[in-house]
Amino acid sequence: MDLTEIRGKYLAAVAGAAGEAALEEVRVAALGKKGEVSALMATLGKMPPEERKTAGADLNALKDEIDAALRAKKTALGDAALDERLRAEWLDVTLPGRPRRAGTVHPVSQVTDELTAIFADMGFAVAEGPQVESDWYNFDALNIPPEHPARQEHDTFFMHRAAGDDRPPHVLRTHTSPVQIRAMTEQGAPIRVIAPGRVYRMDMDQTHTPMFHQVEGLAIDRDISMANLKWTLEEFCRAFFEVPSVELRFRASHFPFTEPSAEVDIRYSNVGGQLRIGEGDKWMEILGSGMVHPKVLAAAGVDPTQWQGFAFGMGIDRIAMLKYGIPDLRAFFESDLRWLRNYGFSALDVPTLPAGLSR
Ligand code: DAH
Repeated sequence: MDLTEIRGKYLAAVAGAAGEAALEEVRVAALGKKGEVSALMATLGKMPPEERKTAGADLNALKDEIDAALRAKKTALGDAALDERLRAEWLDVTLPGRPRRAGTVHPVSQVTDELTAIFADMGFAVAEGPQVESDWYNFDALNIPPEHPARQEHDTFFMHRAAGDDRPPHVLRTHTSPVQIRAMTEQGAPIRVIAPGRVYRMDMDQTHTPMFHQVEGLAIDRDISMANLKWTLEEFCRAFFEVPSVELRFRASHFPFTEPSAEVDIRYSNVGGQLRIGEGDKWMEILGSGMVHPKVLAAAGVDPTQWQGFAFGMGIDRIAMLKYGIPDLRAFFESDLRWLRNYGFSALDVPTLPAGLSR
């Protein structure tokens, strides 16, 4: 049996195969079940024993040779493909980075993260409530009955009711205080929560926008007093403004949901549109506060003979303006890219107390 021709043919075919598919065709033609070499193998059985011995050895050698050539070629093709890919995907990692237009974190988000970190450190959890609120949560439960003048003062946005539906309309919540009720109803007492979020009032000038942000604070336990409130707020302001001292002014005030009540102002200056905290002769009101009214506790299912505590509601936008020297509130919500780039924060600098709130 002369196998020279077959050998030459298949080794040449292996060498010339341009890709894995072509190589597979060569393998099937030579060594596949119906391949040429396999067919010759099948004839061995009919040969006389002497002849079979040499022919069998030759055929096996041929089969092994072609098989080895196939494997070597397959490896070579794979290496070539990898080389090609490496060449195509080559990247010079030593090149300097290209500055990209990264988005920024809005000052309101930044400040919300900052104050959440501070209050978390004092043991306050975050609570949430809906922005479209029932008038019971927004008013009644907070000791503001329908005829109460405070309802007018809130410049409320009302939701639509279908004609003939004379239930009181839902409102866009005018403050974060309804979250006090929801949190106490769900968790009972003792409780320590803050509730940051959007609130809405029909108002628009340099210091008012129809949507703005508040953070509610609530601490209820057996013997919490105004002294705890004062310490908490002073401690918060020192940590938040990252200055050695801030000056707060507690003014006696009135809110239906607290008794007694106090409004708190912070000292600042405005020199040529540059706001500075802790100096100057101006005061900015940043929050309302007080001891939670027994009726409010009762409305949320908390027994006022057992529990008491303080609450406050603070303007997030205002403390953001003060801390970061942003003069006009309206710009917060105009989505002007130049403003956002100027006052925005890096998304990678997450505010934490140990690492620093702002950089
Ligand atoms: N909800 C009040 C407002 O928006 C602010 C406020 C005052 C909240 C006193 C309180 C509080 O929790 O105790 O004007």
